Amino acid sequence: MADEQKHDIVVIGAGPGGYVAAIRAAQLGLDTAIVEKESALGGTCLRVGCIPSKALLEASERYVQAKKGDLKRFGVKVGEVELDLKAMMRHKKSVVDANTKGVDYLMKKNNVTVYRGHGRLDGPGAVVVAGADGETRVGANHIILATGSEVASLPGIELDGDRVVGSTEALDFTEVPERLVVIGAGYIGLEMGSVWSRLGSKVIVLEYLDRILPGMDAETAKKAHRIFKKQKLDIRTGVKVTGVTVDGDTVTVESEGKDPIEADRVLLAVGRKPYTENLGLDTVGIETDARGRVTTDGHFRTSAEGVYAIGDLIAGPMLAHKAEEEGVACVEWIANGWGHVDYDSIPGVVYTHPEIASVGKTEEQLKDDGVDYKKGVFPFSANGRARAIADTDGQVKILADAETDRILGAHVIGPRAGDLVAELAVAMAFSASSEDVARASHAHPTLAEAVKEAALAVDARPLHI
Ligand code: NAI
Repeated sequence: MADEQKHDIVVIGAGPGGYVAAIRAAQLGLDTAIVEKESALGGTCLRVGCIPSKALLEASERYVQAKKGDLKRFGVKVGEVELDLKAMMRHKKSVVDANTKGVDYLMKKNNVTVYRGHGRLDGPGAVVVAGADGETRVGANHIILATGSEVASLPGIELDGDRVVGSTEALDFTEVPERLVVIGAGYIGLEMGSVWSRLGSKVIVLEYLDRILPGMDAETAKKAHRIFKKQKLDIRTGVKVTGVTVDGDTVTVESEGKDPIEADRVLLAVGRKPYTENLGLDTVGIETDARGRVTTDGHFRTSAEGVYAIGDLIAGPMLAHKAEEEGVACVEWIANGWGHVDYDSIPGVVYTHPEIASVGKTEEQLKDDGVDYKKGVFPFSANGRARAIADTDGQVKILADAETDRILGAHVIGPRAGDLVAELAVAMAFSASSEDVARASHAHPTLAEAVKEAALAVDARPLHI
């Protein structure tokens, strides 16, 4: 094993949680190192998750608009529209490369030492990196575990990476599957189901629950379901998949009490689980909970002295931006003795068309908690800009405390909902009332005016409906 080197902080995992933690640590003057086993930095999100899926979502949406004649209304006539899947994949790759190279640059700029190889804990204050040239032992005053998550499986289903795949392979099909079955109507199922449906697959989405997007506001999810139906996404709820068998090029999906469904490919998207394989947790006595998550206290400390954990590895939503906030707060705790994540104002966005975005409490949660609330809704069909871009499906909904008017939650389905919800997340972070948002000037004509109008609607005084 090579000689030991020592750093103030060693981060294991260079996804959004880990690399952002490393940048912040370097900014705070700490000697920082990061360990990554993949050849590119950026983690699942940049390499095989958020970034490539958004590249394909954008590209496939443009294809479908041209193909279906949606551009005609704008006075744009196109000739025969053809799909060039290879070019689309090249676009995706170039976006991924630009982003992962960007992380290389950021590590250099911030003088973060990058160790290439699989990192694992090796007793107190030590990380062993198994790289191409053997093992290196790295010492650290503080170690941050940021190894993320991996695809969760289902009993009776074996991923073969070809016919039965997870999200990584579903980003890389070399031809459009004629029939694609997606198991799970969550974030991944709906995003990747949308991509391949737009490109020509007959997509069937099987969801165990009686609704899509569990955890999201029910009214918003219902609207989304209706819109997806119009897009010919065949979503079947209340279906418990029990097994998948592959016979040559055909996959058969079995579910309880339903006829088997044949497909060319099956995408399993029933969630993700923390990735702790060969992480050496036992060498320092770190415990995991029943779901395999590393248990931490409010300051991201694990049960082992000097070892912290953030992101998908610990409790909370598995979202890149949640991991980033935790990375920053964790390092600030270590360096300064303070740090904070406002878990009540972390948005979640599904990048389908229309996008679905959510922050704070749902109506269901408020009812369950016995909170008296007011609700303001404004549809995009009454927004001038949405009409101009011919994208009027959806609405903004704001939920505010009946007594204090403080915004408790916001749910947007519509064009650029993911960008629009940022305003409401900021408002919530500042404990704003719906009146605060309603009285703020919003540029005209913008989609954001629908946010202002929904805020006005909380007080039953929208101006344009
Ligand atoms: P998910 O938790 O979003 O959805 C899984 C779905 O599968 C749920 O609707 C669940 O009810 C369903 N399901 C579970 N067991 C089933 C069964 N036996 N048969 C049929 N359906 C079943 O998980 P997903 O989509 O795999 O995403 C994993 C993680 O990645 C999520 O935590 C998500 O936050 C994150 N992600 C975030 C994205 C974003 O921010 N836009 C995009 C993609 C993933």
